Amino acid sequence: ALGPYTHYMQKEIFEQPQAISDTLEGVVGISSSIFGHETPAMFKRLKRVLILACGTSYYAGMVAKYWLESLAKVPCDVEIASEYRYRESVPDKDTLVLTISQSGETADTLAALEHAKSLGMDMTMTICNVATSAMVKRTRAHYITRAGVEIGVASTKAFTTQLAALFLMTSAIAKEKGLLSEEEEKARLKDMRHLPEAMRAILEKENEIKEWASVFAQKNNALFLGRGMHYPIALEGALKLKEISYLHAEGYPAGELKHGPLALVDAEMPVVTVAPNDELLEKLKGNMEEVRARKGELFVFSDQGCNIQPSEGMHVIQLPENYAVLSPILHVIPLQLLAYHTAIAKGTDVDKPRNLAKSVTTE
Ligand code: M6R
Repeated sequence: ALGPYTHYMQKEIFEQPQAISDTLEGVVGISSSIFGHETPAMFKRLKRVLILACGTSYYAGMVAKYWLESLAKVPCDVEIASEYRYRESVPDKDTLVLTISQSGETADTLAALEHAKSLGMDMTMTICNVATSAMVKRTRAHYITRAGVEIGVASTKAFTTQLAALFLMTSAIAKEKGLLSEEEEKARLKDMRHLPEAMRAILEKENEIKEWASVFAQKNNALFLGRGMHYPIALEGALKLKEISYLHAEGYPAGELKHGPLALVDAEMPVVTVAPNDELLEKLKGNMEEVRARKGELFVFSDQGCNIQPSEGMHVIQLPENYAVLSPILHVIPLQLLAYHTAIAKGTDVDKPRNLAKSVTTE
């Protein structure tokens, strides 16, 4: 069943182009009815979005917040399900409650959903990879990602398909609110359809990333930096590394460096930087200098037009294109590969890391 791959995680990383085309299959135009017959009315009515999820699915929600607020002008809160379910919050009936879950059976996310409903929030929706799951049964609207079965405990293709669905949803809300011109709709569809090809070109960088992984396997700690919608990608990169290679890794928004974590940086600290060519790049370059000044070793994932040259203590892998607003879906891939190959170099059980379960159905 593994074909040419050594582990399910590797197979699932390489299945992402297919998973994305399957998830977007049949989408010929952007419309709120893609998500069910109730969504046109819901999308029209909503004034806020509240995203509830755990782990990697929570990070997908964090990326969606950037999209929803910038592209659909809808305020969005993202909350870890196990926090939301137990705190006193202020409910708002015009909020769309959106859960994100690969399995659709995560106990905390299900409980958070029920909690939101008990507070009178009736617009519920889920983005989920399992059509028969409890999550789908308990929400009014849903979008089923077609990642296929994900076996590796570390979530990979589920995450990128969730992002694709979230981008589609953001675009549909924007359209419902009159914020998406016909031209923009066409451009978005074209960009989404290009994702599989863009992913394949990134997957070709596997060997280069593998070389970096042999360095990481010798370390005890790593920092991951990103800004804007790539901050959640830095968090996801750190989570992948923790989960399967047992390295202590932390993700930070790069602007926070000097508010604390810079104290950790020395010659022993590898610092992974997610550095797409966007409006925050110059700021990020400043943060990278702060790291170099403390002798921290930088491992930078740039993309087209970044103009970041390798030098002493600064390693660079450039992704082939610049992916504009869809960039998080692509920039996460090298981080998945980095975690995978670090774990292989360390000899850990990649598909079944210690202490973890694939689907967390108890609290
Ligand atoms: O099935 P779910 O998406 O609800 O699962 C949520 C988390 O348990 C899951 O994403 C977890 O963080 C993964 N092991 C991350 O790789």
